[in-house]
Amino acid sequence: MSDLKKIRDEFISKLKGNLDLAELNKIKSDLFGKNGLVSSQFKKIGTIDVTERKKFASDLNIIKDELHDLINLKINEIEKANINEKLEKEKIDVTLPERSFVKGKIHPVSQTIDEISSIFSEIGFSVEEGPDVENEYNNFTALNTPDNHPARDMHDTFYLDDKKERLLRTHTSPVQIRTMLKDKPPFKIIAPGRTYRSDSDQTHSPMFHQVEGLHIDKDINMGHLKGCLNYFIKEFFEVKKIKMRFRPSHFPFTEPSAEVDIGYEIKDGKIIIGEGDQWLEILGCGMVHPNVLKNVKVDPTKFQGYAFGIGIDRLAMLKYGINDLRAFFDCDYRWLNHFGFDPLDVPTNYRGLSR
Ligand code: PHE
Repeated sequence: MSDLKKIRDEFISKLKGNLDLAELNKIKSDLFGKNGLVSSQFKKIGTIDVTERKKFASDLNIIKDELHDLINLKINEIEKANINEKLEKEKIDVTLPERSFVKGKIHPVSQTIDEISSIFSEIGFSVEEGPDVENEYNNFTALNTPDNHPARDMHDTFYLDDKKERLLRTHTSPVQIRTMLKDKPPFKIIAPGRTYRSDSDQTHSPMFHQVEGLHIDKDINMGHLKGCLNYFIKEFFEVKKIKMRFRPSHFPFTEPSAEVDIGYEIKDGKIIIGEGDQWLEILGCGMVHPNVLKNVKVDPTKFQGYAFGIGIDRLAMLKYGINDLRAFFDCDYRWLNHFGFDPLDVPTNYRGLSR
């Protein structure tokens, strides 16, 4: 009997037995592995006498196919049986409750930032950003607040080194400096973002949010500032009329400076914006101080304009009836679920800015 026939008969009879998956795979590699019996026969072809070579190769291929098919058939049978057994065991219990489905919510502060950005972008402001970790120069000095200026103490700054060179920005005003240093006037930007001061109570949190506004051009005056803020507040609170007052104030980086209050009243426990005789401070603003313009190489005899800084969290509290600022940052899932926004159901004055 030829070697080939011997191999064939031996394995055909082996494959008749009741084999499991591991045994079948072992046979497969014994035959067709790198040094398997069939593989070695293939290597022999070249050494066989020319007259017999053709027949040998043809017989070898037939045997190879036969054994190969038989093994695969057996493997398939076992796999099929395994799947059927599994399906048999895993009956679906249709009485079980469905898996819970949790939809994420948009944080009221993110929602408010989106709304503010949409409103301002409609009237020509672009959005700028700056880092939370600032240097002392951008946060104070360039903003006309030199060393030992009392305004530095007002800010309860978190310094990040002993030399007081790096700090967590105490306001978004350093973005004014960054913007004006990197471009040429005119400038018309807003800069929303996180700000930090060492302060914590019902209306103060050590981390809070501001949006800076800056509009510099050849003939921008306080009338433009007033018109812009008036428009913004009305759009933001979705009211036709607003009561607004400019109170003289002081910021080193603006002259003149003002704080803006809006009128409100409480009716049936709800706050109504734009009516009544109560006043609430919501922002600081003014005409950009010539020293600030000089610091960023903008000629104050040619360019001038206004800046403002609005407390975002406070706007969000007012608009959405949230009374404790600290809740914003507690990360309480139940709170977020209640006050957060459905990403697919955006409020009416949301103008389609991409998140
Ligand atoms: N940066 C000021 C603050 O945080 C607000 C402000 C911004 C005032 C711009 C005037 C101009 O208190």
